[in-house]
Amino acid sequence: MTYQALKGQKAIVTGASSGIGAGVALALAAAGADVAVNYASSLSGAQRVVDEIKAMGRQAIAVKADVAQEDDVQALFDATLTAFGGLDILVNNAGLQQDAAFAEMTLAQWNKVMGTNLTGMFLCSRLAVKEFLRCGLKPGGSRASGKIICMSSVHEVIPWAGHVNYAASKGGVKLFMQSLAQELAPKKIRVNSIGPGAIQTPINKAAWDTQQALDALLKLIPYGRIGVPEDIGKAAVWLASDDSDYVNGQTIFVDGGMTLYPEFADGG
Ligand code: NAI
Ligand code: BGC
Repeated sequence: MTYQALKGQKAIVTGASSGIGAGVALALAAAGADVAVNYASSLSGAQRVVDEIKAMGRQAIAVKADVAQEDDVQALFDATLTAFGGLDILVNNAGLQQDAAFAEMTLAQWNKVMGTNLTGMFLCSRLAVKEFLRCGLKPGGSRASGKIICMSSVHEVIPWAGHVNYAASKGGVKLFMQSLAQELAPKKIRVNSIGPGAIQTPINKAAWDTQQALDALLKLIPYGRIGVPEDIGKAAVWLASDDSDYVNGQTIFVDGGMTLYPEFADGG
């Protein structure tokens, strides 16, 4: 039997029916965790992830919930705690883009992005923290009483014209995560972010589905390849495990060097 860094732990991954969330849910399960696979609309996508996790011998449930809605989030946590009897890990992954030139951006586009990317993190994290505080440290369990991982982006530090709502939401995630980490570290709750670069998923299909678009994208990635959800899954397992027990309030950029300002390599 190989070492499983998350053996017996219970996790919720939001927005896990596709892309990075699906990759993270599968990686946590492969590391030994039972996983609640939250989805917004694609039951079939969530069910595929659940089936794969069960095939690994772990428990999994698919739970429909809009992370921006307080009642839905309560129902997500109720279903998870009923099914698994506890919670060790929350991955705040659900997110979306509603792109527009700033002068044309509607209030609905602004609110939709903030609601999912930022308010969703607040609502999910609050219930996770209540559960972590209620249970405290578990004998024989993780060194932390709970771990929260926020899916941020390179755009928590890289400004992004035409995506002001999205970049503002991810900039917000940065100080949300750090402030939460500061408040909860004394309670043995660890809070960190992953800042993915360009990962090949439905959210950025236009950036990779033609050779021309992919060539333009690769100019922004010194390492010379687009990322895949498995790249993020591996980072999530590490951040959720005791292997990162002394890591708190950090954003781990997993971006092939996108945050290294590659356009300065031959200029400036
Ligand atoms: P995706 O579109 O495949 O996944 C986003 C998931 O969130 C979808 O399954 C969607 O149904 C779900 N979702 C959206 N609104 C929701 C809501 N209100 N409640 C519950 N679920 C909701 O795209 P991807 O790339 O997997 O995105 C996952 C996260 O990674 C997002 O937070 C995104 O901002 C972030 N990210 C993605 C990058 C990329 O290059 N793909 C880079 C940096 C960050
Ligand atoms: C965005 C993607 C984009 C990537 C790199 C992510 O936060 O959601 O659309 O490809 O950042 O710019």
